[in-house]
Amino acid sequence: MPIDVKDLHYIYFKKTPFHADALNGVNFHIDNNKFVAFIGATGSGKSTIIQHLNGLLIPTSGEVKVDDFILTSNKRKNKSISKLRKHVGVVFQFPEYQLFEETVEDDVAFGPKNFKVGKEEALLKAHQALLSVGLDESYFKRSPFELSGGEKRRVAIAGILAIEPDILVLDEPTAGLDSRGCEYIMSLLKKMHDDNKTIILVSHDMDLVNKYCDYVYVVDEGKIVNQGSPKDVFVSQDLKGDLEIPKIYYFCRLLKEKGIDLDINSINNLDDLMNQIIERIKK
Ligand SMILES: Nc1ncnc2c1ncn2[C@@H]1O[C@H](COP(=O)(O)OP(=O)(O)OP(=O)(O)O)[C@@H](O)[C@H]1O
Ligand SMILES: [Mg+2]
Repeated sequence: MPIDVKDLHYIYFKKTPFHADALNGVNFHIDNNKFVAFIGATGSGKSTIIQHLNGLLIPTSGEVKVDDFILTSNKRKNKSISKLRKHVGVVFQFPEYQLFEETVEDDVAFGPKNFKVGKEEALLKAHQALLSVGLDESYFKRSPFELSGGEKRRVAIAGILAIEPDILVLDEPTAGLDSRGCEYIMSLLKKMHDDNKTIILVSHDMDLVNKYCDYVYVVDEGKIVNQGSPKDVFVSQDLKGDLEIPKIYYFCRLLKEKGIDLDINSINNLDDLMNQIIERIKK
């Protein structure tokens, strides 16, 4: 399911005193089975962009096309949003917004039930999804509200996996998790990607973006201002706002300031960096 977004504009609270121009002409194309990240300073418009991908937000103008589903400001054309949501699952930035049932298993089963799957089969899908995010049977009957932040996030991800969408969209899936929790979620997403899903994420963690994603969009003031492979994006420019560059490229920059100029183009990970440093020491 390819995604095509053309000249997307979005205004919150149009024609009110709270009017906010959040997106100012966003264009992008994402092919099947990509692992893509949207990065950018806080308030740049990342969450607003991704909430358009399953019709949570409707364009003020412009067009969002996911396979044959088209979303425009013309509401009459947007009939099949519920079908679109079977194909594109969005996990919100704040997982607690997504949890509302009394037990974890009911919460995760809600999605499949909504798509007319029978109660028992929905529970079965819920259990499978929970196990796949690393939450065992002891979690099934617990209240989602008594879980830790990381566990809530896993439940929210399971809730989307249970619908079996082709495209998974996750807004800051690792925020607030410790490094083990981050790696767990990211390797789970990598597994989904290996299973032919398209993964789209918003992240402030540049090391994870660099390690896992194959394409990056940089968002600034409601526009895409740069895009490319992680290395192209991180090496070619200083990122704006509160974003840092991945540690390996930052380290290369510090070395350069000390007169040690490595061949950054052939450095993709920590191993490459170590090997180049070792080569230098040997010379
Ligand atoms: N519900 C809302 N009502 C009014 N304005 C909003 C709302 N949500 C976002 N905005 C505004 O739209 C712009 C884009 O916000 P958005 O949440 O998409 O940014 P973001 O890149 O996801 O930021 P963050 O990194 O902080 O999550 C900001 O100026 C923000 O203040
Ligand atoms: Mg956001």
